Amino acid sequence: MKALIVLSSILMMGFAAQAADRPDWAYPPTPPPKQRDDVKAHKIPGSEKQYTEVAVNDGFNPPDWFPNEHPPMPRVVANGGPRPAATACALCHLPTGDGHPESASLSGLTENYIIAQMNAFKTGQRNNVRAVAMINMAKVLSDEDIKEAARYFAALKPRAGYVKVVETTTVPKTFIGPGAMRFVEPNGGSEPLANRIINIPENAELAELRDPRSGFIDHVPPGSLKRGEELATTGGGKTTRCGVCHGPDLKGLADIPPIAGRHATYLYRQLRDMQEGARKGGQTVLMAGVVAQLSDDDMIALSAYLASRAP
Ligand code: HEC
Ligand code: HEC
Repeated sequence: MKALIVLSSILMMGFAAQAADRPDWAYPPTPPPKQRDDVKAHKIPGSEKQYTEVAVNDGFNPPDWFPNEHPPMPRVVANGGPRPAATACALCHLPTGDGHPESASLSGLTENYIIAQMNAFKTGQRNNVRAVAMINMAKVLSDEDIKEAARYFAALKPRAGYVKVVETTTVPKTFIGPGAMRFVEPNGGSEPLANRIINIPENAELAELRDPRSGFIDHVPPGSLKRGEELATTGGGKTTRCGVCHGPDLKGLADIPPIAGRHATYLYRQLRDMQEGARKGGQTVLMAGVVAQLSDDDMIALSAYLASRAP
């Protein structure tokens, strides 16, 4: 009995240590809410619309800057479902489905895949600090709402050039700001990138206003693209060629999701979650052998390479 308790507490310590090790560049915590202004109207280039900060962050009616650039949104995408958990999909994934790095791009995923992932969130099979919002909303959304949202996002094409990748040894100092996004420190300064991926919006102000045309830059360690390409295309002796299942250009095959041109921090989070067992369900068993022997640097390199490919 005593041995069992000792064993289980060691296991639990190991589990906690593992969770605590998760880097905040890939698993950004949600910062405390910011005071929002409801007076000044903001505009962005190319759109006739204007929204105050409060309107930009309205979880049940987020901005739709370019309504003519996507099909009509179903209610759940534009306005969400049961309150307070089921905020509108467009708040975090944007009406274009291209999303922000702390969430995910949904454009071009299949309907079946999206429904399967909603189920994995609902049952807690997919579980990390960033997945909390998904878990809570998946529990209260109706099957019909999930289906409508899945159909909407499956019909969208990812925006080319939205995700950019740059190899570098140093990055500007950043902090985790609104929406759990990373922003450049106003007081300047730079720091070594080391073995991290630092994602910074191309234009901080536009990203915060949820402009779906304003993209993101993943800063990755030098050599990542070449190393990632080698692993992805040959397996490098420790994994399987990604194209076998994700399609020759990594844009997805049947219900196996596209992995090209998506946010590098998102991709890294998924590889690591699947390796650590924080992501199960769906067809993740097919990824078990793929991630088993990957080192942290391998996962960074693969994520960098995949993000750099055309979506
Ligand atoms: C409050 C922000 C937020 C809202 C609102 C939101 N999501 Fe998410 N979503 C996230 C985050 C964060 C992740 C990434 C979780 C992770 O890294 O594991 C995610 C991931 C996903 C994924 C997984 C994508 C993949 O490639 O596997 C799907 C599918 C998804 N969301 C669907 C939806 C749908 C449908 C809605 C609306 C009903 C919605 N989300 C609303 C934040 C949100
Ligand atoms: C044997 C088939 C197979 C191979 C080989 C494979 N994958 Fe996958 N991969 C899958 C399946 C199936 C899923 C969807 C899992 C699910 O349903 O949740 C997936 C999901 C992923 C995801 C999560 C995508 C998302 O939208 O959340 C990433 C990232 C990924 N794979 C990366 C890779 C990389 C990198 C390689 C090559 C090193 C690779 N995969 C090779 C089958 C495979």
